[in-house]
Amino acid sequence: MKIRKAVIPVAGLGTRFLPATKSIPKEMLTIVDRPTIQYIVEEVVASGIEQVILVTSSGKSAIENHFDYDFELDTVLQMKKKEIMAEELNHISNLIDIVSVRQKKPLGLGHAIWSTRNVVGNEPFVVVLGDDLVLSKEPCCRQMISLFEEVQESIVAIQRVPMDQTKNYGIVEGQPYKERTYKVEKMFEKPAPGVTESNMAIIGRYILQPEIFSLLEETEPGYGGEIQLTDALLKLSRKRAMYAYEFEGMRFDAGDKLGYLKAIIAFGTRHPELGEEFKQYIKQVSADF
Ligand code: G1P
Repeated sequence: MKIRKAVIPVAGLGTRFLPATKSIPKEMLTIVDRPTIQYIVEEVVASGIEQVILVTSSGKSAIENHFDYDFELDTVLQMKKKEIMAEELNHISNLIDIVSVRQKKPLGLGHAIWSTRNVVGNEPFVVVLGDDLVLSKEPCCRQMISLFEEVQESIVAIQRVPMDQTKNYGIVEGQPYKERTYKVEKMFEKPAPGVTESNMAIIGRYILQPEIFSLLEETEPGYGGEIQLTDALLKLSRKRAMYAYEFEGMRFDAGDKLGYLKAIIAFGTRHPELGEEFKQYIKQVSADF
């Protein structure tokens, strides 16, 4: 079955990034010239997805406005003969069909995904977390969709992390299946030290079978008192096969201050117009201190 829909949860408060995120959604923080959410949406578009389902909460209207058509701004830009900028803005509003679903209460990632059940319906879909940026030759979602075409089962994207950081992630245990791919056996959400020896951390990319919705419905609050996607995934992995895929590329946690700075350097130094000068500047400024 073709994967057509991508769920992007953006309802989180962004407390790790205060005070910057007091009145601006963290997904609207800019990397070079685009908000982080635009990189995410561009990744799913480049992966062949046809519809984005944003899971929002109050205070997130800037994200919806960013992908909307702004008649007033377009008219002003046309009048001022700023056609290239007008074209760029129209490109953003024509990127993809976007709908929003409200997460009524902040009950966790699992609950956010569950909120989309009526819009996703009975088909496999992608989940992309608004914080996790991936820089790669082939878009991360497209790599996962290629694997899905072969296995037709749920997939979580993983990367190896240092053992002292496993407590910050969902962690997978599994058996090698083929290159970069493992068959999932166990999963733990933010395990305390000693719970698992695995360092395969789930990053914010999933392909899920729609059975996940009924499993989420019966999932009790877990880590942090929240309904955890990882807990429902563990149940799904016991019913049918699930794979963990070590994607090719670099991942940045753009919802974290240091991760965000790293993303700026990585995306900035690769920018087609500014990249070379920015690289020189980084060398110079690092040498000066
Ligand atoms: C969420 C998931 C976790 C995953 C992480 C990746 O946690 O619950 O399993 O490893 O995203 O970014 P959060 O970072 O939202 O606490």
